[in-house]
Order: sequence, then C-alpha cells, then structure tokens
Amino acid sequence: MYFDRIKHLKAYKTETTPCKIKLSSNENPFDLSEKLKEKIAKEIKKVPLQRYPDPTSKELKEIIADMYGVKPENLVLGNGSDELIHLLITVIGDYDQPVMYPIPTFPMYQVSADIVGRKKVEFPLDQNFQLDKEEIDKALSQKPILAFFASPNNPTGNSFDRDLIKYVAEKGVFTVVDEAYIDFSDKEDFVNEALYSKNLVVLRTMSKIGLAGIRLGVLIANEEVAGEIDKARPPFNITSPTQAIGKIVLTEGREEIRKQIETIKKERDKMAEELKKIPNIYVYPSDANFILIKVPDGDKLHKDLIKEGILVRNMSHLPKMENCLRISIGKPEENKVFLEAIKNLLGNRQ
Ligand SMILES: Cc1ncc(COP(=O)(O)O)c(C=O)c1O
Repeated sequence: MYFDRIKHLKAYKTETTPCKIKLSSNENPFDLSEKLKEKIAKEIKKVPLQRYPDPTSKELKEIIADMYGVKPENLVLGNGSDELIHLLITVIGDYDQPVMYPIPTFPMYQVSADIVGRKKVEFPLDQNFQLDKEEIDKALSQKPILAFFASPNNPTGNSFDRDLIKYVAEKGVFTVVDEAYIDFSDKEDFVNEALYSKNLVVLRTMSKIGLAGIRLGVLIANEEVAGEIDKARPPFNITSPTQAIGKIVLTEGREEIRKQIETIKKERDKMAEELKKIPNIYVYPSDANFILIKVPDGDKLHKDLIKEGILVRNMSHLPKMENCLRISIGKPEENKVFLEAIKNLLGNRQ
C-alpha cells in the first residue's frame, strides 16, 4: 500500500558499461584547464562545509543572470534541470490536469509525471521528428495544463518549429521550453518570450557545457512566475561546493567553455559528414552535441562498439527509434576512433 503508486515504475537507467571511450551521456568531453581547477581547489578549501549553503544562491544567481542577460529575479536554480522538471510537474496545475509532451523525447518528463501519478498526453512527432500541428491539436483537445518541448530535442537532435511551440502557449498551456542543448544550436532561443510571458518558461543546464558533476540547472521566467515556482524549491538544493564552483567557472571559465563549445560544434558537423559517407546508415540532422543515426541492426552495432571499447546510447527500445543509436560528440581523437570502428563494423559485418 505504501508504494502502490510507484510499484510498477522502473528506476531511470543510463548506460553505465565501463568503456574507454564514452559517447553515451551528451556530456562535454573536455575537462577544465589546470588553472581553473587549481582555483576551484583553493576556493573549495574556504567553503564552511558545516554550514548550510546560501538558500538563495545570491552571488551565483547574479553571475548566471549576467550570462543570460536577465535579472536574478528571473531565475530559479535546480539540482540539475531534472529537479526543475520535477518541480514543474509538481507545482503547475492539478495532477488530474494532464502534462503533454512529444514522443520520442527526454524521458524525465514521463518519469516525473509517473512518480506523482500525473495524467499524461503523449503525442507523436512526424517522420522527421518535427512537431505536427494535427497531433498537437489532438493533444490539446485533452485539456493539458502543462507542456514540455525539448528544443533541440533529445534523442533526435533537431530543433522544433518555434511557431508551434508558441501556438501551444497561446492556447493557455503552461509551456516549458527545455533548452538543454541550445549552446550547440544557431537557432533563436525562447528567453525573450519567457521574460514577458505568464505561461512560458525556459530551462537551461550547465551539464552539457562542462559541469554535469556539480548538478546545476536554471529556470528562466518572468519575475512573478519565477517567484511562484521558487516557493516550492527545496531551500538548500544548490550545495555550497556547487555554488563555489559555479561562481568560478561561469566567470573566469566562460571563454574556455565558449571555445570548447565551438570545437564540439565543428566536430559534430565533421562527424555528420563522415557518417553520411557510410552505406546503410541514416544520419539525422543535429543542433545538439550528439548525433542520432539509424542502422540496419542497432542492437548488434551497439554491442560490437562496446567490444571495441566505445559506449554509445542504444535507442532501439524506444518507440519510433528502432535501430537508432545516439552518439555524443567526444574529443577529436575519440571521434576518430569511433568513426574508424563504425566504418569497419558496418562495412565488414552488417
Ligand atoms: C533535454 C534534456 N533536458 C534536461 C536534461 C537534464 O539535465 P541535468 O543534468 O541538468 O539534470 C537532459 C539531460 O540529458 C536533457 O537531455
């Protein structure tokens, strides 16, 4: 009886097979510079670990606000954007008012909704993994109050049609634009819309640009909206080491990270071109730090790559993702090893 609501749920699983080359979690493959790491070590020494962290993350928020060209009052910080997704699922509307999101997308929208027992309206993307107006209208007819759009989308890599996202918000649905991968995209973001809207917010994360380990997610919203959501945030969710590291990296490390992002984008475009030369492989367009491919036998290629010491994410088990693998962009030398391996495997054995 205690666990009735969650008994049928499965814990969220990631690829954890140990491999020499890890191209499975859409992380930034580059480490911080030694200079920055030394500065972090020095600052961490000063952190009074016996004390609770600043519950408002005041200084860190000022830095992030400056980074995004907004005010600190426009921000809610989370222990990763996963926590912010969960927070939104718990605070927006009532649980019998559904949450809508397209399929396939980032699984945490579904996981969080299931944990609290919230109604879901899942609707399919079209052949090209783009939003489809007809499917959106069908979803809207079920009266959802909350919508999630990851744009660029994970695991497909493409960005969604802006007008269709706005269309959903204009229908009065509280619309979350999850921009976890926006740093790798040249498309326009939704920050301006978020600042002037009562029902559209943006999610960002530091996980994809080099700080997955410190768990730092950001919600950008109109002041009033941010204030309401912040009431439900656990007060000490951003630890003092996270605040200290965030403050250093997001000031002194900004240029370093910008260069890493540029390299990842170039490597992604190179990787896409190389993959397209391999027969029997379909390469989906990507605005993110990963590329989705479709191959003749996804399970086999996934296993064969592990034997070569390369871990990618197998998406084959998800609806509309048969034989699809998601490859995170690694360091240039890792990408080279991966490309050699996949060329050999697909050329010789499939
Ligand atoms: C679309 C999307 N949103 C959110 C997240 C979660 O990020 P975080 O590490 O900030 O919890 C991910 C992580 O893969 C993601 O792909």
